[in-house]
Amino acid sequence: MSERWTPDSWRSKPVLQVPEYPNAKALADVEAQLATFPPLVFAGEARNLKKALARVAAGEAFLLQGGDCAESFAEHGANNIRDFFRVLLQMAVVLTYAGAVPVVKVGRIAGQFAKPRSSPTEKAGGVELPSYRGDIVNDIAFTAEARTPDPQRQLMAYRQSAATLNLLRAFATGGFANLASVHQWMLGFIKDSPQSRRYKELADRISEALNFMRACGLDLESHPELRATDFYTSHEALLLGYEQAFTRVDSTTGDWYATSGHMLWIGDRTRQIDHGHVEYFRGIKNPIGLKCGPSLRADDLLRLIEVLNPDNEPGRLTLIGRFGADKIGEHLPVLVRAVQREGRVVVWSCDPMHGNTITSTSGYKTRPFDRILSEVKSFFAIHAAEGTHAGGVHLEMTGQDVTECIGGARAITDEGLNDRYHTVCDPRLNAEQSIDMAFLIAELLKQDRAAQAKPMPAVAGL
Ligand code: PEP
Ligand code: CO
Repeated sequence: MSERWTPDSWRSKPVLQVPEYPNAKALADVEAQLATFPPLVFAGEARNLKKALARVAAGEAFLLQGGDCAESFAEHGANNIRDFFRVLLQMAVVLTYAGAVPVVKVGRIAGQFAKPRSSPTEKAGGVELPSYRGDIVNDIAFTAEARTPDPQRQLMAYRQSAATLNLLRAFATGGFANLASVHQWMLGFIKDSPQSRRYKELADRISEALNFMRACGLDLESHPELRATDFYTSHEALLLGYEQAFTRVDSTTGDWYATSGHMLWIGDRTRQIDHGHVEYFRGIKNPIGLKCGPSLRADDLLRLIEVLNPDNEPGRLTLIGRFGADKIGEHLPVLVRAVQREGRVVVWSCDPMHGNTITSTSGYKTRPFDRILSEVKSFFAIHAAEGTHAGGVHLEMTGQDVTECIGGARAITDEGLNDRYHTVCDPRLNAEQSIDMAFLIAELLKQDRAAQAKPMPAVAGL
């Protein structure tokens, strides 16, 4: 792996999950065009996120990463983006206040379009067609035309990402995220839920604290951390031709950065050490994530860490476990011990979504809220037992009032899934379930802090 790296060196390796484009020339033309377009994010921003993640690795902050399983062209509205951002802000406030810890906010947004599939084709009514691979590749409609990969879609995904990011930047810095507006972030449709009452109480306490500080003579308007927020974007960098087109040299350092998003991650299906995805990721300087599923062995993980973070740079690598509520206890401790033994600095994050997907009796792909919570609880318990930091969570969620995951405070049932099942890919927590989850995670964070604050037993001679 010490061979020379270039943005296209991945092309000489085997690459999984590649769409079959019928016209190679049309694809190459689009990639050449993308390479001339402005970057979506800047290297300095990616470095700031890396610094924030270094604090997470040290146990001084918590990572909240979340968003759609897949963004879609059809649902690209300002309201959707605003509602998502609002729920993520609410969750961050809950975690910061109730969990008493700074929160690093990263969206699965503004680029989360390409999807890995378990099978390259899908059969229905005796017809076999290519699988849907996300709007950046093909269309979900079950016709031969819709399912044929079309490179023009990459241009659309770029333009949509740019527009989404533009709005997110405005929300994050233009006043919407001002902590003084903490009451206004409540979404209309959850106004009379138990979560909203709990959230309102918390918002009241924050307002009181702000008023107290004002009364003490502090000029809150002069504190940018209260008026604005840091928000970062992330996606699975699956479509390497697209990523290559946005891989640019940072003029201040001379290093290569992916500029399609601040943080990119490698999916659980494409993390083979001698394959193209790992090759691409080793050369970019962004903070990166690696999905860790039940099939990942500890020695393979250590080899991947050696390739992806040879200098052991804090904040560079986030390990996103996605084992399943019934499997995390068997797999995570082994990985944690191996990483500790080798002195590797990583952020440990928990994706409690992808190992807990089931098919409901009504035929929908769903995730029971209780199983999601159970994996998160085990994640905290395992890190407490191993003496490592439960660094963050990675959630599939939306600001909309959908019915895709069963359970939660409003107890969505199997029969209820049919009401508002809108996802184009995996089932997401709805706004209310997301806030619920944030309160439950805040409790776990609080317990964690209390345990850490306990005085060490006095040991003679130390
Ligand atoms: C995802 O995050 O949507 C995903 C496909 O995850 P994984 O690679 O963990 O299966
Ligand atoms: Co998913």
